Amino acid sequence: MVRKGSVAADIGTDHAYLPAYLVLNGISPKALACDVRRGPLENAKKTVDSYEIEDKITLRLSDGFDKIEPFEADDFIMCGMGGTLMEQLVSRTHWLKDKRKRIIVQPQSHAEDIRRFFVENGFKILFEDACIDCGKLYCAMAAEYTGEITKKSVSYIYSGELSKCRKKEAKMFLESINSRLKKKLDAERVHGSADTAEYLEKVTLELEETINGMQTDSKKHL
Ligand SMILES: C[S@@+](CC[C@H](N)C(=O)[O-])C[C@H]1O[C@@H](n2cnc3c(N)ncnc32)[C@H](O)[C@@H]1O
Repeated sequence: MVRKGSVAADIGTDHAYLPAYLVLNGISPKALACDVRRGPLENAKKTVDSYEIEDKITLRLSDGFDKIEPFEADDFIMCGMGGTLMEQLVSRTHWLKDKRKRIIVQPQSHAEDIRRFFVENGFKILFEDACIDCGKLYCAMAAEYTGEITKKSVSYIYSGELSKCRKKEAKMFLESINSRLKKKLDAERVHGSADTAEYLEKVTLELEETINGMQTDSKKHL
């Protein structure tokens, strides 16, 4: 999802595997590897040293985007954090509302929080992808600021553009989200509020329809 030729900034980089991959594979000429803690940045330094890419990767101690200047990168990546934290970090960084910049996220949980932020704040989710690694399902998405706010269905924050991804992993991902929401719905019906139950019923029915309408290719990737 990182555009070829773009300078990348990986927020929450830990071992800097992603920036290393991007520069070693000629996708990014250079990259920033940022983390809020010193320990992960030490891991990052080991990776950078071992591949001798010190001239291409800048290590940066930064809480979210706080210590990054807008002109320093084109594509900004956050992987492995929760969607709620991602939403907090992106929402306080107003300069990300720039049509030239791309935000790429792989939320570990609560993907709906970052999708909701994108939808409500004029960012367009361009596409999404899903995969399985070590038996665990992951999803990732790329978004850009357009300034336009378009009305979405009630379940969009849960499905996003994954419904258009033709990989079986995308369908599996949405099935797992919907089964979690259905459990929540059952619990709400017993102990919770009627309004929440009504909302969840609408979301799960819509998601079911979306999932049933998904086309998957036999090949691994679109
Ligand atoms: C689970 S690791 C993910 C590492 C890597 N991005 C990946 O996907 O494999 C999360 C990383 O995010 C960092 N992190 C957490 N909160 C952060 C914040 N506010 N700003 C920058 N980094 C943060 C943590 O220190 C940790 O290194």
